Amino acid sequence: MDSKTDTDKYYTPPSVAIQAFERARLADSPYICADTACGSGSLLTAAESVLKTKYCLGIDSDSHAIRQLRRARPDWRLYVGDLLQRHRAPVIDFPESNRGVDLLVLNPPFSLGSKKYVSVKYLGQVVKCSVAMAHILHSLELFKPNQGAIAVVPESLLYSDTDQHARDLLDQRFSLTELLQLSIYTFKGARVNSSFVQFGISRNRRNLENESASAYLDAIPANVVRGGLQMHAFERMVCGARVIHSTSLRDIAAKGFSSVGEKTSVITKGRISGWMLLLPRVGTPKVENLRAVYSKEEVQLSDCVIGIKFPSKIAAINSQKRLMENWESLLGLYRGTGARYITIDRLIGWLFGIGIHDESAMKESWCPTLG
Ligand SMILES: C[S@@+](CC[C@H](N)C(=O)[O-])C[C@H]1O[C@@H](n2cnc3c(N)ncnc32)[C@H](O)[C@@H]1O
Repeated sequence: MDSKTDTDKYYTPPSVAIQAFERARLADSPYICADTACGSGSLLTAAESVLKTKYCLGIDSDSHAIRQLRRARPDWRLYVGDLLQRHRAPVIDFPESNRGVDLLVLNPPFSLGSKKYVSVKYLGQVVKCSVAMAHILHSLELFKPNQGAIAVVPESLLYSDTDQHARDLLDQRFSLTELLQLSIYTFKGARVNSSFVQFGISRNRRNLENESASAYLDAIPANVVRGGLQMHAFERMVCGARVIHSTSLRDIAAKGFSSVGEKTSVITKGRISGWMLLLPRVGTPKVENLRAVYSKEEVQLSDCVIGIKFPSKIAAINSQKRLMENWESLLGLYRGTGARYITIDRLIGWLFGIGIHDESAMKESWCPTLG
């Protein structure tokens, strides 16, 4: 969300919450739901109507919002407080219930203000992450909901490097399913790419990833190369390596590397030669610009371009085919709250799923379970 200092009072429209909850997959009706950033209470209200929740507990740092909600919903347990400063959950003492919270529902604050990250303790580890992720981790730690959580999250939480450590920890306990992608206009006064997601208890994502990998039995070796040349920081030369920018991809696909006039003598990361596929790292790739291309000389990739290098022409052409067959899924990897981008890790993981194996990642043996 674009405000720097507010506390993200971007309440979820009730109809959107209902739509998302209708898509949730839960073993049972969650008897007790908690929202640790409950605001006007729209998520808890949706949990009552869609999920048939019996008891609701809400926390919010905004005392005015809690006062209003207490008036409207005297049957709910409501607390004022900063969630991230709480050391334990409030006592759960609903009638006929000696159990804990079943499901967390939350649309946490997104804004980091001037900070780059916040630190929070989860599963005994100190995790540096975004404020939205910190809110989710701390809520899970305090309440230990037995059916997981449903949350609104910024897209960056699903893909950013900042939240990678937290995602790895969550991956040990939860499967993450996107329930509903939200429009940037969903929240009044804020423009953000966000989604409703479910942190479910039972599924094992790794198995699913490996299942999809088995659709392509013949693995193609490759090397994913991230470009490194910053376009504003290099001097154009008459000789040197050709500079490949994301805006060059269309001409390269149509006419090959001879269409690129810009050259540099700067040697930085992102040099590549031989058979390759080129993708933009930032922006949205276009299928007509995807073409297996060959350069005998090394070319220099700008920091907006990713190259995938292959040992042979046939490997490059077959890989082009696989990317095209899975184009929609590839487009789904380009995310971000502002400009859309893809990370190298995300791309390598996805390529693995279509049987294109990055050799450096394979050396680190992060996927030994295949085959
Ligand atoms: C995006 S709103 C979501 C409100 C509500 N759950 C909904 O979906 O309509 C975020 C809420 O978090 C509250 N909030 C922000 N920082 C908080 C904190 N540290 N602890 C508890 N609540 C917080 C804000 O007051 C605001 O009501």
